[in-house]
Amino acid sequence: MSNLKVDYSKTLGFISKADVLAYKDAVKQNITALYKQTGKGNDFLGWVNLPSSISAAEIADIKSTAQKMKQLCEVVVVIGIGGSYLGAKAVIDALSDSFAQLKPHNNPLVVFAGQNIGEDYLTELQGVLKNRKWGIVVISKSGTTTEPAIAFRILKADCEAQFGKKEAVDRIVAITDAKRGALRTLADQEGYKTYVIPDNVGGRFSVLTPVGLLPIAIAGFDIEQLVGGAAEMEKSTGADIDFEQNPSAVYAAVRNALYKKGKGIELTANYNPKLHFFAEWWKQLYGESEGKEQKGIFPASVDFTSDLHSMGQYIQQGQRCLFETVISIEKPNSSLQIPSDAANLDGLNFLSGKHIDEVNKMAELGTILAHVDGGVPNIRISIPKLDEFNLGQLIYFYELACGISGYILDVNPFDQPGVEAYKKNMFALLDKPGYEAESAAIKEKLK
Ligand code: PA5
Repeated sequence: MSNLKVDYSKTLGFISKADVLAYKDAVKQNITALYKQTGKGNDFLGWVNLPSSISAAEIADIKSTAQKMKQLCEVVVVIGIGGSYLGAKAVIDALSDSFAQLKPHNNPLVVFAGQNIGEDYLTELQGVLKNRKWGIVVISKSGTTTEPAIAFRILKADCEAQFGKKEAVDRIVAITDAKRGALRTLADQEGYKTYVIPDNVGGRFSVLTPVGLLPIAIAGFDIEQLVGGAAEMEKSTGADIDFEQNPSAVYAAVRNALYKKGKGIELTANYNPKLHFFAEWWKQLYGESEGKEQKGIFPASVDFTSDLHSMGQYIQQGQRCLFETVISIEKPNSSLQIPSDAANLDGLNFLSGKHIDEVNKMAELGTILAHVDGGVPNIRISIPKLDEFNLGQLIYFYELACGISGYILDVNPFDQPGVEAYKKNMFALLDKPGYEAESAAIKEKLK
């Protein structure tokens, strides 16, 4: 059984247990459809049994490439966007020392590029790479995405200029489609080490493929434990598991019951700054999977207690269209107590001897109670501690719940047709060959 717990008792003033249990049969059917590949988007279900099917040889190969990059590089730039970026960023941030950049470290610093089109960002990155030992992991499933392609063109040239064309080949790894796309052509021609993103795994479900695993291993984290945690959750969320014992089933049902009662925005809250990017990963997973056909819960996130001093007012008293899902870590990895102070000028001696996390937990409980009183139902998801195993559990928990939830909404959770609209306009505005008609039309519109 998994270590992860879902507590929805603080939604029960807003929905009833019967509202949740009403989804029981649908949830079971949806899990079966995910496993048997009989539902919408069934050509993108390779992630469903990914944790239990990754072979020891695949893991060993990823670890050996990571080891090679560790020997060659002080900094590794991971180039990618969306699903080719957020999973690795989420896990690395969650597991890293918050001040790693200021401390001596044995593993390369992993930094990211190609997740924006910032001229200053890329220029500043070029500046810090100069005179350092560095390498690149470039990730694009399609191999044609503009943002990472621009970053790679620039950083590849820098890498070759600094280390020579031959050595640059050893410093660059490409993760892309088996056959298609410009990145595949380029990687094969240059002779880079490559990994394949399976055809049947979409970007936002790809963190447990080399897309996430290679950067995470380079950063020095235990990918066997991460995959092991996910595999444990895979076992705990199958169609054979009793509804109330299946955390993904319960979470999917509760959020849909709340949505039906008009709670159209889910606010994922954390009480640990290391989880900021985990929430970004979650937002992509749910936003891109569910937000279509004019349907879907809008995924938003807040970092508490920081954002209680900015968004707290709205959450407490603004429009009552929210529900909140707290991701809570039961035990911190460090120990720090508040000292006593003889003068007590700050009046804090009532906290003397308490651990920082005890205060944090009371902030969490106090906030949950206040928000529930203010009309914001609360789901609490807890894991024992922040480590690879528990993060692996959390990742798979959310992925399976996303598939179930998307099927409850009756959308295809595995496509993203809406993402093309901005690209079409951007290419038209930039006069990309092949977009002549669109260019003329958009320029006419702007007159
Ligand atoms: O989830 C998705 O499919 C998207 O977010 C993609 O990951 C993102 O658009 C990047 O695409 P690609 O990996 O093809 O460069």
